[in-house]
Amino acid sequence: MTLNSPVSAAARAFAERPALMLRAEDVRKTFTLHGQGGIGIDALAGVSLDVARGECVVLVGPSGAGKSTFLRCLYGNYLASGGSIAIRDDAAPTQHLEITGAQPHDVLRLRRNVVGYVSQFLRVIPRVSALDIVAAPLVSRGVDEEEARARAAALLERLNVPQRLWPLAPATFSGGEQQRVNIARGLIAQHRVLLLDEPTASLDAENREVVAGLIVEARERGAAIVGVFHDEDTRERVATRVLALRAPRVAEVEAA
Ligand SMILES: Nc1ncnc2c1ncn2[C@@H]1O[C@H](COP(=O)(O)OP(=O)(O)OP(=O)(O)O)[C@@H](O)[C@H]1O
Ligand SMILES: [Mg+2]
Repeated sequence: MTLNSPVSAAARAFAERPALMLRAEDVRKTFTLHGQGGIGIDALAGVSLDVARGECVVLVGPSGAGKSTFLRCLYGNYLASGGSIAIRDDAAPTQHLEITGAQPHDVLRLRRNVVGYVSQFLRVIPRVSALDIVAAPLVSRGVDEEEARARAAALLERLNVPQRLWPLAPATFSGGEQQRVNIARGLIAQHRVLLLDEPTASLDAENREVVAGLIVEARERGAAIVGVFHDEDTRERVATRVLALRAPRVAEVEAA
């Protein structure tokens, strides 16, 4: 590692700025469509972003601009094709974890302790009750099961999920009910970094308002948030900053 390498630049940034939680530098992502003549989609062509505690950066841009792709790269679901993504990690000697190229167990530890992600749709786990799905992130951190369930119940209540649904597996729930279970699961552990991909897309106005309130509370508690919100009202309530992403272009993939 040299002094000019991106890794040491990230280490310096996290040491000098105690509030810095996430630092993305020139992140690129190219999808190669192998079945389709070797063309590639430059979904992200060099996105840079710093997010500090108490900030909520809202990603905007047309459909296909790479908003979801960027969030997935930040969460380590997609491997970025280039650039650097660093997230504050108190357990690391350099105070951050470089997500691109990290060991899977380090990424899982960071997800347990630091980074939460709410996708647009709930991934339903067969036979697990809504209450246990929401309580799970606390249980995995060692919180007593009864206490975790009590906190899950309080959050489901706030999100207007009817109590009769709590003991049931969400497979049969409506889209909006599933989304509220998903949000409760994503917010319950009060992660210090939150990645939110259209968490209010299938909600009515009343429940959107509840979710916006929860996001503002998380931000005021000091969470660093990056999110996509399809409606203007939610964007205006939660955003401290906006980052515009450009539409991707089709590129010839260089022969390897
Ligand atoms: N797994 C994938 N394989 C191939 N191409 C992909 C994949 N995921 C995304 N893309 C492409 O990357 C581009 C960006 O997609 P992405 O889903 O990030 O857009 P978005 O900004 O979230 O759009 P929307 O507002 O519609 O949700 C699109 O052209 C999409 O087709
Ligand atoms: Mg998207």
